[in-house]
Amino acid sequence: MDEIKKLAEMLRQSKDTLVLTGAGISTESGIPDFRSPGTGLWTRMDPMELLSRPALERDPVGFWRRVEPMFRQMAEARPNEGHYALARLEKAGLIRGVVTQNIDSLHQKAGANVVLEVHGHLRSVYCPGCGAEEDMPAFLDRVAAGESLQCRCGQIFRPHVVLFGDQLPECFNTAWRWARVCDLLVVVGSSLEVAPVCWLVPEAKRVAIINMGSTQCDYLAEVVIRGRAGEILPALAAAAGE
Ligand code: APR
Repeated sequence: MDEIKKLAEMLRQSKDTLVLTGAGISTESGIPDFRSPGTGLWTRMDPMELLSRPALERDPVGFWRRVEPMFRQMAEARPNEGHYALARLEKAGLIRGVVTQNIDSLHQKAGANVVLEVHGHLRSVYCPGCGAEEDMPAFLDRVAAGESLQCRCGQIFRPHVVLFGDQLPECFNTAWRWARVCDLLVVVGSSLEVAPVCWLVPEAKRVAIINMGSTQCDYLAEVVIRGRAGEILPALAAAAGE
């Protein structure tokens, strides 16, 4: 496809390329995204009920019971060819790294080193009282077994996940700086409907978008490639010589 060849040429010309990923890069790993018609999580559940700060504060045990299946599925998922292709492009020095809205750690599992997790991660949970950390898989077993979710200090453990109503982590400021200086921002698998992450896109000098559906920022992109990330990214890496 000549759009892929054009994007490969833009990659080679760019001295500083940043990639921004969303849930669409992980659907081929079996993790549903949020807004795809019919299959997106938010077409079946109310995000404010499932992943909001008020929902956690109001009923922490109920919060953990509701999110346990989704968090377990993400924690157990494996990277797909799209994640591996991005890791190859990073190793080849063709991209600086990835800013991801995903909390599934699949970029790191695929070998990526530079990953800014602007919506947090699922590798562990923390106690808001004393700061104690516990591995997520072990903690999810406690949730599934109906065991106590309290830390020794008495507080209930929380996820390192940015919930609706939360501030974004410090790494978002880094993502903002990188987007402002990069030559090229490649968006993969995001509807770009959620702020402030979607505000990164207009900051970039040049934009390309790889996404199955249309996005809020298609008008900003020199190249828009419709299709599956698991197929397009390996073809892009190959066209770029990786
Ligand atoms: N290849 C390419 N694109 C895909 C694929 C795929 N295999 N599967 C789905 N997509 C596209 C969909 O068409 C959709 O436009 O990925 C996009 C995913 O968009 P969303 O579901 O809105 O996910 P995302 O943009 O990551 O959401 C951002 O919203 O709910 C919050 O915190 C949550 O991080 C999430 C944020």
